[in-house]
Amino acid sequence: MARTFFVGGNFKLNGSKPSIKEIVERLNNADLPQNVEVVLCPPAPYLEYTASLITKPQLAVGAQNTYLKASGAFTGENSVDQIKELGSKWVILGHSERRTIFHEDDKFVADKTKFALGQGVGVILCIGETLEEKKAGVTLKVVERQLNAVIDEVKDWSNVVVAYEPVWAIGTGLAATAEDAQDIHKSIRDFLATKLGEKTAGETRILYGGSANGANVASFKDKSDIDGFLVGGASLKPEFVQIVNSRK
Ligand code: G3P
Repeated sequence: MARTFFVGGNFKLNGSKPSIKEIVERLNNADLPQNVEVVLCPPAPYLEYTASLITKPQLAVGAQNTYLKASGAFTGENSVDQIKELGSKWVILGHSERRTIFHEDDKFVADKTKFALGQGVGVILCIGETLEEKKAGVTLKVVERQLNAVIDEVKDWSNVVVAYEPVWAIGTGLAATAEDAQDIHKSIRDFLATKLGEKTAGETRILYGGSANGANVASFKDKSDIDGFLVGGASLKPEFVQIVNSRK
C-alpha cells in the first residue's frame, strides 16, 4: 500500500507575519518531492495569510484546533467553516496539549473530529501516552482507547491522518527511537484493521510526532508504518525542509 508521505508543521502559539513568510518562502523555493503533502498549521490569526503565501501544490494550511459546532455562543473557539473559508484544508485535533492543558477528553475529541470531517476538513488526529503511562506499560491501551472513541463516531477515515505523539517526547529533544515508534505504529495499524478493516488501515497515514528534527528523521526512513511526521519546534526552523525531503 503506497501511502503519500505527509508532514505537518505545528507552529503552536509561535510565529509572526515575517517569520511565517520566511518559513513559507523557504518551502516555496525548495526542491520538494512531487508526492509529499505538507500541512502548515500556524496560529489561527495567520491562517489566511499563510494560505496566501503558498505557491507549491504540495503545501496546504491547517488549523491547530476547531470546535464541534460551526457557529454560536462559544467565545474564543475556532469554527471549522471559518478556517475553511480562510483556506485551511486540515485541522489538528486531540493534541496532547489540548488534552492536558485544556482538559479535552476522548469523547470531545471524537465529536470534534466527526464534525470537522462532516464539514469537509481533514483531521490530523493526535494520540499518545504520557511518561507515567509508558512506564506503567499501558501505551497500547491508551492509544487504543483514544482511537476507539473516534471509531465509535467516525466510519469514513479517508480524510483522517493519525499522529502518534508520545507525550514524553514532545518538546523534550528525546524522540522515540525509530524502532520503538515503528512497533507502536504497526500496533496502531493492526488495531485499526480489526476495527475498520484492512483496506482502511492500509490507507491511513500514521505520523510520528515528538522531537522529530533534521538530525533524526533519516532514522525513520525505512520504517514501513511511519508515513510522515507532525513536527513542532523544528517546523519553525530551516531544517523543516530537510524533514520534508527526508523520504526523497
Ligand atoms: O504536534 C507536534 C508537536 O507536539 C511535536 O512537538 O517540538 O517535539 O516537535 P516537537
